[in-house]
Amino acid sequence: MKFHAVKILIMIRLLGKDKPIPYDLLLLADETIESIDKYIHQSEIYVFEQDQAMIAVFALQMIDSDTAEIKNIAVDTAFQGQGIGQRLLKDAINLAKEKGFKRLIIGTGDAGIQQLYLYQKVGFEIYDIKHRFFIDNFPEPIFENGIQLKHMIMLKKDLA
Ligand code: ACO
Repeated sequence: MKFHAVKILIMIRLLGKDKPIPYDLLLLADETIESIDKYIHQSEIYVFEQDQAMIAVFALQMIDSDTAEIKNIAVDTAFQGQGIGQRLLKDAINLAKEKGFKRLIIGTGDAGIQQLYLYQKVGFEIYDIKHRFFIDNFPEPIFENGIQLKHMIMLKKDLA
């Protein structure tokens, strides 16, 4: 039985534009502040707090009138594996639906086994691959699960 699933009452909140950007959390999902800065200022940042501590975040960017993208999703390492990421993804899906988007997309590295599993578990499906994304956009090779990240796997969820 998974007690954690009922114990956690997820309350996300939109972070005010005047508030500091939580780079420490965002950096769990992205390599550099420079790469985060390419999207974060055009994104809405939603945070999940517990006992006044920010422990999870996702960034939602409008791509076009029909499409939104989760550009970053991260859970503090001390709180990973407790169902928070899955709950946040479901909240992001509901939020995008409420905002009238028809499609939600998310991208992750080809070696991101957990992410690929998790995103498909909540209903995303692979629709594209950005070949050589991690080779061409970062100065140093990036490794995950002992495998060099090469391509960005794009997943989508139809919200209709
Ligand atoms: N392989 C397969 N499945 C795994 C693995 C693994 N190595 N590790 C964990 N899982 C499964 C768990 O069993 C669980 O599935 P279950 O519910 O069926 O048991 C699921 O993955 C984890 O679910 P949660 O506990 O909800 O996930 P968590 O709260 O840890 O959040 C997240 C997931 C956001 C990926 C978190 O681990 C994290 O912040 N990682 C670092 C940052 C990151 O990689 N972010 C995503 C990058 S892509 C992007 O941002 C668009």
